[in-house]
Amino acid sequence: MDGTGVRYNDEQYHFQVSRLSTVDKIRIQGGRRLSGRIPISGAKNAALPLMCASLLTEDTLTLVNLPHLADISTLATLLAQHGVEIGMDGHASGGHTGRALKLTAGEITNTTAPYDLVRKMRASVLVLGPLVARTGKARVSLPGGCAIGARPVDLHLKGLQALGAEIDLQQGYIEARAPGGLKGGRYVFPSVSVGATENLVMAAALAEGETVLVNAAREPEVVDLCRCLKAMGAEIDGAGSDTIRIHGQKNLAGTTYPVVADRIEAGTYAIAAAITGGDVELVGVKLAMIEALAKQLAEAGVAVTATAEGVRVSGSNGVIGTDVITEPYPGFPTDLQAQFMTLMTVAEGASMITETIFENRFMHVPELSRMGANITVHQSSALVRGVKKLNGAPVMATDLRASVSLVLAGLAAEGVTEVNRVYHLDRGYERIEEKLGACGAAIERVRPAVAADE
Ligand code: UD1
Repeated sequence: MDGTGVRYNDEQYHFQVSRLSTVDKIRIQGGRRLSGRIPISGAKNAALPLMCASLLTEDTLTLVNLPHLADISTLATLLAQHGVEIGMDGHASGGHTGRALKLTAGEITNTTAPYDLVRKMRASVLVLGPLVARTGKARVSLPGGCAIGARPVDLHLKGLQALGAEIDLQQGYIEARAPGGLKGGRYVFPSVSVGATENLVMAAALAEGETVLVNAAREPEVVDLCRCLKAMGAEIDGAGSDTIRIHGQKNLAGTTYPVVADRIEAGTYAIAAAITGGDVELVGVKLAMIEALAKQLAEAGVAVTATAEGVRVSGSNGVIGTDVITEPYPGFPTDLQAQFMTLMTVAEGASMITETIFENRFMHVPELSRMGANITVHQSSALVRGVKKLNGAPVMATDLRASVSLVLAGLAAEGVTEVNRVYHLDRGYERIEEKLGACGAAIERVRPAVAADE
């Protein structure tokens, strides 16, 4: 135990705590061409809702191919305080290999998700739907602002109201009640939301009768959640399309489920190959999952092909500027916008990058500019004029994808780049320095001799 109620059964979970530090830096000597194979981890954004699905059953949900990341640890802590027993199992299980996380919500002992935990990670709001569906009530802190914009949760709440939940906002908390249980309903999303779709699919899985979600998110992580819920006994049609039908069940059962590959991690390393003119095979991801990026890379002059084990990305001596607009899946993902912008900073010609999902998601721009990039931001668009080279510099960013975009810039830059605030990277990239290092990058994690007061 670590004082938070999470049961760690061996050193396999130790990495979570020991590897993370607010004072670590990543130091990169730029200019190395990447070549080799990179294994792609399970997707963080699939793993988080899957872990919350454990609240829907008293049986054990075993998740395989789980990434080793700080966000997983944060959610495990939250689930533990709702009464979920959590154990790590490093061995093959149910025909699947890899690390497994076992989650058993035999009894929900507490239906409050406190501010202290929710503020660390917005995805914590995904406990709301399952808690109300299973127990008839939940009290979940509003997540508050975050680095990439206001990010409200109104769609989660309106959707739950369509399933019969009564919702009040009290002192920064969402109070949800459905004393007689949730009832199936129809909800038309006014705009696409991944998290709200996930919350509602989970809630509807235990609601009485049929729920229809229109204009639902089509992201592979939503599909992965629906597949797992079906394996738990849920009746769901239309996952991956914009209309999802869920026929609620009285109970769901446990299962063993492998988390889908992380398309954002894969896309990030595809761009790493492209920006260094390298040749990298991304093992374990399917080309279809990163198609929008593959199309952009092809336009930029980078070859992306399917292989027996994954996807191969072969860069050339230079890339060509190409315009990008972020959109819900299957469009270009906002979570790869910062990384693609970094590639465009060294492209021949100009590129217009338009962010339509989140406001305020250009925090990487001033840092890239410090490294010599030529970028002009006007509202939700950034005009990137390619430069011949970037120069290494000490940099830092305030969110996960912005941080990794600076790592990519460092790989291409002349000289040394130090990326500070590595804890952002540790939220979403498993062993990034090892994975890139194995392909020839000169990259290391630097730990100050005397740890600062954290
Ligand atoms: C998820 C991903 C995140 C990704 C995002 C968009 C996880 C854990 N995170 O976040 O990495 O960048 O999808 O692909 O899976 N919105 C509302 N009201 C709501 C909910 C959302 O206005 O109730 C808005 C958001 O502010 C945003 C847009 O809808 O502008 C899309 O957000 P959403 O798809 O919900 O993102 P998340 O699920 O939070």
